Amino acid sequence: MAEALRTAKGVHDILPDDQDYYTFIKKVVRHRARQAGFRRISTPIFEFTDVFKRTIGDTSDIVSKEMYTFEDRKGRSLTLKPEGTAGVVRSYIQNSMNQLPQPVMLYYFEPHFRYDRPQKGRYRQFWQFGLEVLGENDPALDAQVIHLAHKINEDLGVGHIFSLQLNTIGTSEDRKKYMQVLQDYYVGKERSLCEDCLSRLEKNPLRLLDCKEEDCIILAELAPAMKNYLDAESIAHHEELKGYLDELGIEYTENDRLVRGLDYYSRTVFEFWDKEKGAQNAIGGGGRYDGLAELLGGSPTPGMGYAAGVERLIANMKREKIKVPHKDDLHVFVAQLGREAKRKCLPLIDQMRDAGLKTMGALGKGSINIQLRLANKFKVPYTVLIGITEVREGTAIIRDMEKGIQETVDFDEVVDRLVELIGEEDLDKYSPGELTY
Ligand code: HAM
Repeated sequence: MAEALRTAKGVHDILPDDQDYYTFIKKVVRHRARQAGFRRISTPIFEFTDVFKRTIGDTSDIVSKEMYTFEDRKGRSLTLKPEGTAGVVRSYIQNSMNQLPQPVMLYYFEPHFRYDRPQKGRYRQFWQFGLEVLGENDPALDAQVIHLAHKINEDLGVGHIFSLQLNTIGTSEDRKKYMQVLQDYYVGKERSLCEDCLSRLEKNPLRLLDCKEEDCIILAELAPAMKNYLDAESIAHHEELKGYLDELGIEYTENDRLVRGLDYYSRTVFEFWDKEKGAQNAIGGGGRYDGLAELLGGSPTPGMGYAAGVERLIANMKREKIKVPHKDDLHVFVAQLGREAKRKCLPLIDQMRDAGLKTMGALGKGSINIQLRLANKFKVPYTVLIGITEVREGTAIIRDMEKGIQETVDFDEVVDRLVELIGEEDLDKYSPGELTY
């Protein structure tokens, strides 16, 4: 026998029971996004590597060690998308979305890929939903994106678990000045830093502020505060945003060491942290990225967005024992005996499904009893039985599986009778909407 193959490390099948959670989250996001004027976008699973390299930053963890980068047959460097924002901005530029009424508001629900060390809440393929608002830099928009993220957490029943951490990191010029201040501050303290921070000190000292190692945390707490090095406009933007959040009744914690792991941010940054576990396993984060479009060769275009990890949301929903509704339960199993009966069953099943009855059956060649046992395993409330006698008489038997009673009805009346038994309100009558020509 050939060796049974398994999934690669850090990736998972999403089995039907978990699909219910993905579907539910997708519906909540779609609903909230649509209410706020967002439209859905999907960018390709892979992009030219430069899309991510130029924006997320060479020294970031993502670009330096977490990207799935490969060459295509012509030697071009491509990368599986590790996050959604860079691709969306690339698409905004490529598709001249600056010609549309601004701001352009887009949302996505997509798989992403990072060569992370797999552990709980950290996978190599994971799903994110994201919101991006392009073409406007009003702090009221920052407040609206944060509010929307908060609402979605609440709709999913996990709002109370997370605290909103908020900071401003100013413009890239401010940060350059501040990074010099930080480098000066750390002179002579190198011996207390972890290995990662030692290399960050050279390349991206800002990241020293959000290191999770104990000694590094102590040093970061004593470091000069970034606030004192920011321009007046950034401070004003931040104050205005806080005013709007207060107006919306959203609680936040001001966290002046929150810097985020991607380089493209400017001014507003925020994350939703687990109230008990802190920064580890943040459910989502985002911020303003006013300089990103230019890095990708576009004209200056302000932007603001958020993304959340779907697997982490699901883990928290499960931890809170939250169950999601699903519509997969079957109504009817059709059991038949003989080829003639099977032939009659197929169009009948088709009519039942069209009427909104979730139906399976006309399977196999087992005895009626074997098929009834199978129907029980599928937990259907009703089974339709068609044997040789029923074919001859033009009838069918409808069996109530729970009560164990059955009735014989004319073949032509089977669908109507089942609809009556199941009840109009429980039929699966979902319609994707009318087509127009
Ligand atoms: P991020 O903080 O890198 O931001 O990722 C957002 C969320 O994705 C995280 O909070 C986490 O829930 C989830 N996540 C990240 N990596 C993994 C992983 N390896 N396994 C499972 N879940 C993961 C961004 O990606 C930005 N693009 C957000 C943004 C949108 N900023 C502006 N617009």
